Amino acid sequence: MKIMLIQGPNLNFTGIREKGIYGTKSYDDICRELKEYAFLKGVELECFQSNCEGEIIDCIQKCYLEKYNGIIINPGAYTHYSYAIHDAIASVNIPTIEVHLSNIHKREEFRSKSVTAPACKGQVCGFGEYGYKMALKYFLEADHE
Ligand code: DQA
Repeated sequence: MKIMLIQGPNLNFTGIREKGIYGTKSYDDICRELKEYAFLKGVELECFQSNCEGEIIDCIQKCYLEKYNGIIINPGAYTHYSYAIHDAIASVNIPTIEVHLSNIHKREEFRSKSVTAPACKGQVCGFGEYGYKMALKYFLEADHE
């Protein structure tokens, strides 16, 4: 099973930016620990991060071309306004789970709207980096088509 984890703008600064909101663990540590977990479960996890919308779309299309089984995506602030990322997720027909480190529903009003979530199977938010593991566990354990 091949799963892609895509993290959008500023998420490479996790562990540096607003630690009270996004946590103290670094981007590299989050990816390394998730990859180790996936490896133990026999899953191939690739981690991709970009601050550019087009590169995120290219990565989603790559998942289609290279037959990934699932996508876990934290689109960062693009969550709130990128119809292009919504359309890319909708195009590829790969089960996609949207994850946010923070609970976007109890912050500024503009964060509570996700334009990308309607193209996804579901959304996990408010559990910090553990949310990525929750999404991974869905692909590993849930009885899904
Ligand atoms: C975020 C929430 C977004 O509103 C914000 O712009 C981010 C991170 C999260 O993981 O909580 O960059 O996606």
